[in-house]
Amino acid sequence: MTQSERQLPWWREFFESADSIPLSFFPCPEETREQVEGIISLLDLRPGDEVADICAGMGRHAIPLAERGINICALDISAMMLYIARRLAEDDADRLHLIRGNALQLPFRSEGFDAIVNLFNSFGYFIDEAQNIAVLEENVRCLKPGGRFLLETRNRSYQILYAPYYQEVERADGSNAIIRCRYDEDAHRLNSRWIDPEDPEKVLHRASIRLYGIDELHDLFERVGLEIDGIYGEYDGTEFEGWERMLILRARRR
Ligand SMILES: C[S@@+](CC[C@H](N)C(=O)[O-])C[C@H]1O[C@@H](n2cnc3c(N)ncnc32)[C@H](O)[C@@H]1O
Repeated sequence: MTQSERQLPWWREFFESADSIPLSFFPCPEETREQVEGIISLLDLRPGDEVADICAGMGRHAIPLAERGINICALDISAMMLYIARRLAEDDADRLHLIRGNALQLPFRSEGFDAIVNLFNSFGYFIDEAQNIAVLEENVRCLKPGGRFLLETRNRSYQILYAPYYQEVERADGSNAIIRCRYDEDAHRLNSRWIDPEDPEKVLHRASIRLYGIDELHDLFERVGLEIDGIYGEYDGTEFEGWERMLILRARRR
């Protein structure tokens, strides 16, 4: 491994690894289908709408949205995730555009999208807070005025209830890893390490995600020009009460 490869941020390494599929605990296909129905309803999406899925992964949401007639740009930085998406999406090629890029600098024109989504804990990866804010600013730049934005992120209150924790999990090759998860109260980050059970010194993967409180997200959205008009704990539109696993914010570009 070269010096520059060693310095890649965790999310560049992790999501290029087959392990990221079992270790991310993606919702099952049935739950994903329900989420897609929720996205369509919460954002009032219509066939022909122009939508971007930022950090789209393997297209869990983008592919079924394309099947519903939505023109969707699915952007991700991971070649592996986009490869899987391409394999899964063969029949929907005309409405689905898979794009490799960085959320920090979207390769899209300004004011082009009716809606943008950023789903399943894909926000807050950057260590530098200014870069996390820049991701939001990029989304806003690419939205039409009045365009809709949906963010699904981790609910910090729920997440830190269980930290620190240790859990044995299965890797892509069938072997086991132990996840060690700690919440750093100063940095507001949930830090995870996957360790080899045979050799606890061996770190297989690592992750670190900034967790935001609802008040912080209110301030951030306000600052970048997004007006929140819905806060949900489920994709079916159940209002967020405080302790749900998910925190879903719907907003409009001013
Ligand atoms: C937890 S997965 C979620 C994927 C998808 N949204 C879903 O719900 O299945 C996070 C994804 O974000 C991508 N990602 C992380 N940082 C990124 C960045 N700066 N630019 C583009 N993609 C990024 C990763 O490659 C990964 O596929």
